[in-house]
Amino acid sequence: MRTVRIFDSPAQVAGAVADRLGELLAANPRPVITFPTGSTMLPVYDEIVSRSKDGRLDLRGVQVIQLDEYAGVDDQTAASFRAWLHEHLLDPAGITEFHTLPAHDPTPPALAAYEDGIRARGGVDLAILGIGGNGHIAFNEPGSPADSRTRVVDLDRRTRQANERYWTNADAFVPTRAVTQGIGTILEARSILLIATGAEKADILHEALNGPVTEHVPASLIRSHPHAEVLADAAAGRHHDVEDDRISA
Ligand code: PGA
Repeated sequence: MRTVRIFDSPAQVAGAVADRLGELLAANPRPVITFPTGSTMLPVYDEIVSRSKDGRLDLRGVQVIQLDEYAGVDDQTAASFRAWLHEHLLDPAGITEFHTLPAHDPTPPALAAYEDGIRARGGVDLAILGIGGNGHIAFNEPGSPADSRTRVVDLDRRTRQANERYWTNADAFVPTRAVTQGIGTILEARSILLIATGAEKADILHEALNGPVTEHVPASLIRSHPHAEVLADAAAGRHHDVEDDRISA
């Protein structure tokens, strides 16, 4: 690393992610990709789905690897990340291959089998990531070891508060535990694309990019990856002062 691209708007970030997928698909129609959940990704997935509907992107060969999930959920849990991803990306884009985490019963053998499934597909070509307000990537909260593997974790209070909006009264409380790819697992991807939009991400993004590379800010650990790129809008990237990589509209 270090490529940081700042765009004027979230819509332009979405366009850049869709362009990147187009390049990947032109080189390999069966890429292995992790897609995150979260509100940051909604305009991105809208753009990808719209390009898939009008024929500019053919995502049907994409092999999706799940990045994180609440522990204990199953296919019927409306607030699960897998349901969210089906609704916003997989189903409208016609993607059928989805290697999911063993969230319902995350025993050590099931977690190992999940990682074996990634290797069996040849590893991840592109890990798309969001960044939490506390600097988490996937559900690797601050303090997660840089070499961590897919495992069960406790969610931090801030993450649970941020996700409360997805848990309606029918689903009761936000779970306290989750299953996540480890940081070591994520860093094995051949390339990484971290997406951040909105003013509320500005401080943590700055810390991740300009502070120490530390397990206290998990997103900072992507700086040790040789092919990591950050795409941010002007609001999230407002502390970023390198003018020469600013993309103007
Ligand atoms: P958000 O979530 O896009 O809803 O802000 C990002 C994350 O927590 O990784």
